[in-house]
Amino acid sequence: MKILITGAVGFIGYNYSKYLLENTNYKICGIDNLNDYYPVKIKQKRLKELKKFKNFSFSRIDIKNKNQVEKIFKKNFNTVFHFAAQAGVRYSLENPRVYIDSNILGFFNLLESIKNYNIKKFFYASSSSVYGDSKKFPLNELNKINPKNIYGLTKKNNEEMVETFFKNSNTKCIGFRFFTVFGEWGRPDMLIYQYLGSIFNKKKIFYLNNFGNHTRDFTYIKDVCEIMYKTLNKKIDKQHQVFNICSNKPIKITSILKYIDMNFSIKPNIKKRKFQLADVKKTHGNNKKIKGYINKKDFFDVKKALNKTCSWYKSNWKIYN
Ligand SMILES: NC(=O)c1ccc[n+]([C@@H]2O[C@H](COP(=O)([O-])OP(=O)(O)OC[C@H]3O[C@@H](n4cnc5c(N)ncnc54)[C@H](O)[C@@H]3O)[C@@H](O)[C@H]2O)c1
Repeated sequence: MKILITGAVGFIGYNYSKYLLENTNYKICGIDNLNDYYPVKIKQKRLKELKKFKNFSFSRIDIKNKNQVEKIFKKNFNTVFHFAAQAGVRYSLENPRVYIDSNILGFFNLLESIKNYNIKKFFYASSSSVYGDSKKFPLNELNKINPKNIYGLTKKNNEEMVETFFKNSNTKCIGFRFFTVFGEWGRPDMLIYQYLGSIFNKKKIFYLNNFGNHTRDFTYIKDVCEIMYKTLNKKIDKQHQVFNICSNKPIKITSILKYIDMNFSIKPNIKKRKFQLADVKKTHGNNKKIKGYINKKDFFDVKKALNKTCSWYKSNWKIYN
């Protein structure tokens, strides 16, 4: 099996590439533009790790460039996992064009090549952000989606593009609506790593938005990798499906910070802030659909997974500073 993984040196793309390289003999071709949304040093370190595997190859490609995308597909893939995107909700308030360029135009370039090269299975990253603000929880895949920021809007658009573009084609498609994924090699712009960053660097202020009253359905990266692997090996009947990828255990931000604190003797410099415009107050997904689909029984306990993440960070904090 030969798999194309886009965004291969991003947080999820890296962990999933590594998971497949460690557990299968699939050939993995990673692509990424190594953009500087967060320190490139982290992406380079991840790349160095992946290059240790003989079944891994890498090309620095920007999916906004149609010709570069077309060219890489000459390598004849069976399957594509697409993680390359401009992530982050707050950044989308000030930099909306970046999202349109990578998440809409780049996404479409990829879809065209998938169709031209008759790829049989296409998996792509959507997001819990497609739901927007809601009052009814847990959110399930049949709920109305109503994103409240440009980032979420691009993900909604991706789902709609896939639905329309591949109708009656040979490509079977699955979209993963990820809910706040965390773990080893995590994204430095996300809350847990922001907090860890300020524990290890006294000069870094940690901004606690909405006074810590947000609630998130935190999902450990190892569960995410296992789910995607099992999904990859299923026979797919439907043309296009979306799945919530979440642990179905919403936790208040203040509790998450307390769990992290238990791992360290130092307290970071915290500055509390009011509610920020692009944020949603709560995420909590129903995960029955994915659990039934792959027969998954349990998810990692968030507290234990956080302890693992903290201990990984203790040994690797220099990568982030
Ligand atoms: N981490 C989460 O909690 C979370 C939640 C919901 C959805 N997602 C989605 O999952 C995917 C992976 O997220 P992540 O957390 O690993 O983010 P990430 O930023 O770590 O990874 C994305 C990777 O894509 C690359 N990239 C961006 N634009 C590109 C372009 N035009 N061409 C080629 N490469 C490009 C970046 O360099 C980066 O390495 C994204 O689509 C994101 O929107 C993530």
